[in-house]
Amino acid sequence: MSGDRSKPDLTFVRLIHQSLRIDGTRLAAAIASLAPGDRPGRLPGIRAFFGQYRDQLDMHHSHEDELFFPALAARAGTDRTHLGELAAQHQALDRAVQAVGEALTALADPAGDFAIDRANAASALSAMTRLLDTHLTLEEQTVLPLIESDMPVAEYKELEIKARNATPRPQARFLIPWLVAHATADQRKALFRSAPPLRFAYWLNRRQYRRFDHALPRPAELSPRRQQP
Ligand SMILES: [Fe+2]
Ligand SMILES: [Fe+2]
Repeated sequence: MSGDRSKPDLTFVRLIHQSLRIDGTRLAAAIASLAPGDRPGRLPGIRAFFGQYRDQLDMHHSHEDELFFPALAARAGTDRTHLGELAAQHQALDRAVQAVGEALTALADPAGDFAIDRANAASALSAMTRLLDTHLTLEEQTVLPLIESDMPVAEYKELEIKARNATPRPQARFLIPWLVAHATADQRKALFRSAPPLRFAYWLNRRQYRRFDHALPRPAELSPRRQQP
């Protein structure tokens, strides 16, 4: 969150990264905990969540490729924005996400070998989260600081409005409560302050979001140390 009004407020993009990271881990934990009897019960919910997650990742890439990166390159120059490397990472991630989708489809097939298919899904997810972490870290170390140093506040705000307007309604219905669910109290305040209609969108869609979210373990369940004083 940026409290400095002289720089672009990066709350939204930081929250997207945060949510992608946390839920990559939660998806991996959900797959690891599946037993053969969970095929008809828990797996459909996990696959439904993954479908939403995948849509958010695709959309985030599109907004970066079509809006944010070209605008930043025009301000800061192509070399400083690492455009070639970022585009290659987006493509590698597309393939990794596709592999996860295929592995989850195989895991849902009752004719398949459950242990083998679960191991394949876990390995595909682990490859995806590794690539994702490398990619998000590169953006956080290179792109975000450049946005703060080289892009005027008004121009960044305009790009965010364009990205919001280019977000299809079904994806927006998941996106806002998803980000709020992963936000700290300060980030939540900054998010709602950045665009007041987001608060309304959150209240309107949070129930539907919870139905998807319910399929994955709570973030607190992933780290036993957090439960100790
Ligand atoms: Fe990206
Ligand atoms: Fe990003």
